[in-house]
Amino acid sequence: MKQFTAEITPGKEGIVQAAELLAAGKLVAFPTETVYGLGADARNDAAVQGIYQAKGRPSVNPLIVHIPAIEQAENLAIFSDLARCAAQAFWPGPLTLVLPLRPGHGLSDRVTAGLGTVGLRVPAAPVARALLTAFDGPVAAPSANPSGRISPTTAAHVLSGLSGRIAAVVDGGPCAVGVESSILDLSGGAPELLRAGGISQAALEAALGRPVINQAQIQDNAQPNAPGQMSSHYAPRARLRLNAKAAEPGEVYLGFGPTAPGNATLSASGDLAEAAAQLFAMLHRLDAQGVEAIAVAPIPERGLGQALNDRLRRAAAPRPSS
Ligand code: TXA
Ligand code: MG
Repeated sequence: MKQFTAEITPGKEGIVQAAELLAAGKLVAFPTETVYGLGADARNDAAVQGIYQAKGRPSVNPLIVHIPAIEQAENLAIFSDLARCAAQAFWPGPLTLVLPLRPGHGLSDRVTAGLGTVGLRVPAAPVARALLTAFDGPVAAPSANPSGRISPTTAAHVLSGLSGRIAAVVDGGPCAVGVESSILDLSGGAPELLRAGGISQAALEAALGRPVINQAQIQDNAQPNAPGQMSSHYAPRARLRLNAKAAEPGEVYLGFGPTAPGNATLSASGDLAEAAAQLFAMLHRLDAQGVEAIAVAPIPERGLGQALNDRLRRAAAPRPSS
């Protein structure tokens, strides 16, 4: 059903208005430091169902629950010492922990898609923190984009995909990190990285003092633990060619580093954090310009480069023909 989507400025009043909309079971997009999330009250079945509808998201794909601090997280999931160590090291920040659900958690079954685990995240962005504190309850929030498209890093990106399908977007400006959170599964034996993201595998291993199994590679045939592992995901309209030294006729070149000759660059100085912050905005912009083919410079596979290359590989993967 078509509805008016309000654009909210995140002052004191705006945050109260956004929290009231959430409490009324409405969908509110809001900025985190990674990407904009599409929030709903995680205890409200109908509200959570609304997220799946607005995004066109398969209901088997569980949602991340956002809380303001570890205290609220402990009411929802069972923390091991290792999980507390990860939370202390990286919360608030771009890390999602997958942990066993605590009995009496109160979350809608739709949030977890019936799994015995839940993905939890304490975001660092001030607007997200203010909203979570004002709402004073768990907020389910996937990225605020139609399913399968590129994640939004500005309020304008959110509106271009979801305007008329959600109650409001809180405009907090561009997201600082620019790629989604790393997803670390601590629900079983050894720690497993389900999605490369804003915290590097090396940083996770250093903080935990043990190796992390990288399950985050694209798996075409395997049953994905995180449906974000499906190979065609994060797709722009344009075709992508990766590890390109130069553009071929008809392509726009997206450079990285000082020597890359280019129409556009992810980071002229070769800075991975800058490139991550730019990536989705750049793909949104080239799509809006109607560019048909993009050649992307090689990005080193270290630190945030793992998450960058993961998103680029998915963006370049063959698409379902629809
Ligand atoms: O940075 C982020 O994580 C953003 C912001 C808004 O927080 N959120 C985000 O949500 O990227 P989404 O829904 O686009 O991606 C969440 C991923 C999905 O691939 C989902 O399958 C996985 O997390 N996930 C959620 N709960 C899970 C669970 N219990 N076990 C395994 N994977 C889970
Ligand atoms: Mg997403």
